Amino acid sequence: MKTYLITGGCGFIGSHFIRYVLENNKSSSILNLDALTYAGNPLNVKNIEKNYPGRYTFIKGDITDETLLKNIFSENEIDHVIHFAAESHVDRSFDDPMQFVKTNIVGTTVLLNTAKEFWQKDEWNSKRFLHISTDEVYGSLSLEEDAKFTENSPLKPRSPYAASKAAADLLAQSYFESFEFPVLITRCSNNFGPYQYPEKLIPLMVLNMKNEKALPIYGNGLNIRDWIYVEDHCKALLEVLEKGQVGEIYNISGEQEYSNITLVNMICEIAASLTNKKKDHFKKYITFIKDRPGHDLRYTMDCSKVQSETGWKPSHNFIENLTSTVQWYLTHNEWVRSCELSLQKWMKSHYAI
Ligand code: NAD
Ligand code: DAU
Repeated sequence: MKTYLITGGCGFIGSHFIRYVLENNKSSSILNLDALTYAGNPLNVKNIEKNYPGRYTFIKGDITDETLLKNIFSENEIDHVIHFAAESHVDRSFDDPMQFVKTNIVGTTVLLNTAKEFWQKDEWNSKRFLHISTDEVYGSLSLEEDAKFTENSPLKPRSPYAASKAAADLLAQSYFESFEFPVLITRCSNNFGPYQYPEKLIPLMVLNMKNEKALPIYGNGLNIRDWIYVEDHCKALLEVLEKGQVGEIYNISGEQEYSNITLVNMICEIAASLTNKKKDHFKKYITFIKDRPGHDLRYTMDCSKVQSETGWKPSHNFIENLTSTVQWYLTHNEWVRSCELSLQKWMKSHYAI
């Protein structure tokens, strides 16, 4: 039996990863440490305890709480740490950068340090600390001529969120370089799928369509993102955990690049078809608004390393996954209601439409 300490397991990707590990590795048990911020939702892990009896434990707590972490490590034989917990929304990082520093930089360091203190050095070859990071640490590419980011590209983060993730990556790497502590880092592109807090582009657009509200697009809508279905990301993470080399960084992407306006138009058509409306019904709500500060134009990564070392590949059924995702947000009313209060507050403070 292997015990995984998952941080941020009540968030979007962490909750998918917990289900994925429990389903695909029958000799695993999970400790989920999550502070339940606005982005952490107990409904994201509903029924996990019941469906996997004796294999799942939730601990409500903050990754910056050193005493709590020491208790967790002294009371449990932890084999692997998979570190998702973070402040994850770029737009919020402009308003409250200090919260991003606390969680993403200080929290990561407390976690690294506690694991290093409690894991005996002679066990390190069987232990893994997987730090989940982002393509945003590389900064922005121009539309066509720039080469893809590789794992060796320089870090040029351009938002407080990206800078806090880059700092966390460097601290994680320093634990490998300084102590040979068994750290691996993954950097992923934009995830989509069920259970994503609806401040992010795809769920926000679907819920606004559902409510026949404006669909806010920053700037001219030509910024490009590379989308990956969240389960593909989870598969890649388990592969990296099992086959990756310690001290290494792995880029992960879905190889599905779309400009924001193209993607939103696609979502409009999918939502129209799922709700029996005319093809262009929702497009009239598209509203171009003031751009995000320092809005990164495009990220594209070379993911040949993860593919050649682990055999993982993204699934490439983008339209199918996007359609099921749109359907999920249109039909999961209890989950949508659970986000409503915090979301309304955010929408009011952030969008002047
Ligand atoms: P999310 O915002 O949905 O979830 C974050 C989770 O962390 C929440 O459950 C929250 O309660 C918890 N959390 C926040 N602060 C905490 C603290 N101090 N202590 C304990 N728990 C805390 O985020 P997500 O989209 O699932 O992203 C997970 C990780 O993946 C993040 O590290 C993010 O940077 C990275 N990432 C995300 C994407 C993406 O597209 N969403 C892409 C690449 C990398
Ligand atoms: O690239 C990986 C990153 O992807 C992760 O590290 C972040 O945690 C995750 O939030 C995501 O960041 P983005 O900023 O790319 O995601 P977001 O959904 O906020 O925005 C996607 C694109 O859509 C981006 O170009 C901004 C644009 N956008 C977003 C919102 C919320 C709009 O045009 N309008 C909006 O209202």
